[in-house]
Amino acid sequence: MAEQVLLNNRRAMPRLGLGLWGPRDGRETLVAVEAALEAGYRLFDSASAYHNEKSLGQALRASSLKRNEYFLVGKIWNDDQGFHGPKEAIKRSLEALGLEYFDLYLIHWPTRASLDTWRAFQELRDLGLTRSIGVANFSPEQLKDLIEATKVKPQVWQMEIHPLRARPDLSPIATELGIELMAYSPLARGRLKKNQIIGRIAQSLERSFSQIILRWAWQRGLSLIPKSIRPERIQENARIFDFELSKEQMLAINRLDQGQSVLKPPFVFDEAGYVLSSLK
Ligand SMILES: NC(=O)c1ccc[n+]([C@@H]2O[C@H](COP(=O)([O-])OP(=O)(O)OC[C@H]3O[C@@H](n4cnc5c(N)ncnc54)[C@H](OP(=O)(O)O)[C@@H]3O)[C@@H](O)[C@H]2O)c1
Repeated sequence: MAEQVLLNNRRAMPRLGLGLWGPRDGRETLVAVEAALEAGYRLFDSASAYHNEKSLGQALRASSLKRNEYFLVGKIWNDDQGFHGPKEAIKRSLEALGLEYFDLYLIHWPTRASLDTWRAFQELRDLGLTRSIGVANFSPEQLKDLIEATKVKPQVWQMEIHPLRARPDLSPIATELGIELMAYSPLARGRLKKNQIIGRIAQSLERSFSQIILRWAWQRGLSLIPKSIRPERIQENARIFDFELSKEQMLAINRLDQGQSVLKPPFVFDEAGYVLSSLK
């Protein structure tokens, strides 16, 4: 279905995937993953903090695809960070999934232990527990500090990006560093359903609001991982390759940017934006 991008370690990654924050372990996750596989999704964005690895693994293992025909993303939670935590954390996740390796393993949030986590991530890659590594929610400064201190570049940088929080500053940095930028919460968690600008564009192209928003991210060159638990929406979100937004339509959506996050992380940050404390 969707095209792939070549990461800076020469491994290919599909640019469209299914987000898995939200579906409950069990039927909800099984249905969503089966529908996504059927619709042609080949990337799955999971995390230990999403508490549905068991069913995700079950659905992937039950599919007719070989392990190298889909791309699995995982994330280490804050409490497991540091030099010694990652190996145990990734093994725990893989055991829940019933799989041998992740294609991409991310630091979920930056903490003061992330430098040590990142050093430990090299070993996870060497051991074959993950093929690629990356970070999520790192500011440009935090990302640059990480690379400077360790001389090791992430393959992927996952950030909250959607029309209400467009982050045009990030793409040039990612391009310069040779790191793939992946947009999470690309649908702004439904906040744009009633937006008139998106609505008018959707009407003129006979598309849904979500297809317009996802196409906007696609044309910006981002990887994206929309989430839905409903098969019809999962299919709809993957039908964004047979139409194009004009330059004017792209600009009109760019103008919706308010720098507004749709997330409410359940923790406190220190003055440099590192997570201080977190709830499980
Ligand atoms: N690294 C991080 O810290 C981080 C943080 C947040 C998210 N993420 C990842 O990014 C993924 C996506 O982000 P998200 O879950 O926050 O939000 P999102 O994908 O922006 O939006 C999901 C919401 O939109 C609805 N929706 C999906 N498709 C729709 C459609 N076609 N029409 C109408 N409504 C639709 C879903 O409802 P239904 O499910 O009911 O359809 C859900 O309420 C997550 O699942 C997760 O994998 C990562």
